[in-house]
Amino acid sequence: MSTPVIAIDGPAASGKSTAARNLAARLGIPYINTGSLYRAIAWKAARLGISTRDEAAVRAMLADTAIRYAAPAPGENPDIEIDGAFPGQELRAPEIAQGASNVATMPFVRSFTLQIQRDAAKTSLVVMEGRDIGTAVFPDAKYKFFLTASPRVRALRRLAQGGETPDNATVDSVAAEIAERDRQDMNRATAPLRQAEDAVVIDSSGMTAEDVLEAMIYCINEGKQA
Ligand code: DC
Repeated sequence: MSTPVIAIDGPAASGKSTAARNLAARLGIPYINTGSLYRAIAWKAARLGISTRDEAAVRAMLADTAIRYAAPAPGENPDIEIDGAFPGQELRAPEIAQGASNVATMPFVRSFTLQIQRDAAKTSLVVMEGRDIGTAVFPDAKYKFFLTASPRVRALRRLAQGGETPDNATVDSVAAEIAERDRQDMNRATAPLRQAEDAVVIDSSGMTAEDVLEAMIYCINEGKQA
């Protein structure tokens, strides 16, 4: 039996969050952003002045850290709660992204986050977005999508979003930051970013967010199960 999860994986800034949020809203089910887990760990490390490349320090910090998905207010979508706080938009700060990618290479971090992700999908169908949902977290997810877009399109979209890029960012600097994060996410030993063999691949380079949503809905209605 497959797990009731719609997995959406893909590289940085490929439009996963928008697609996942739109799909969850259309289906009336929760949306779980798993990148927020790694971002929350990087966020706490930054607050404590701990380097996200210092494995021993991150391990010690994690031993004294409680993370879960919870609704910030009744009826709201589940969000990351870390040590009783909801960092929310602070997780989107540009300096947090690379730190998240750094801690995500550490196997003990991935075992820590694995259970949280599995717990978040225990009761009903959810849309879960990340890098390894269809390969490592839920290899038996009911539906799997792998979303991608050309590096230039991804850089342009990230710049247009604002808020997640430094003030002086250019297309080239954002493209370089994204490429570096993808390189690290694809080459780590534990649960690297890769396309699940049974995922439906969507290259959204020439598509609008609405096009992507309709493509996913079409696959789900056609019963294109993984
Ligand atoms: O999707 P995002 O940009 O918020 O993810 C931030 C980092 O977290 C990303 O560079 C790699 C890591 N990540 C991961 O390793 N596995 C996931 N399922 C989600 C994110």
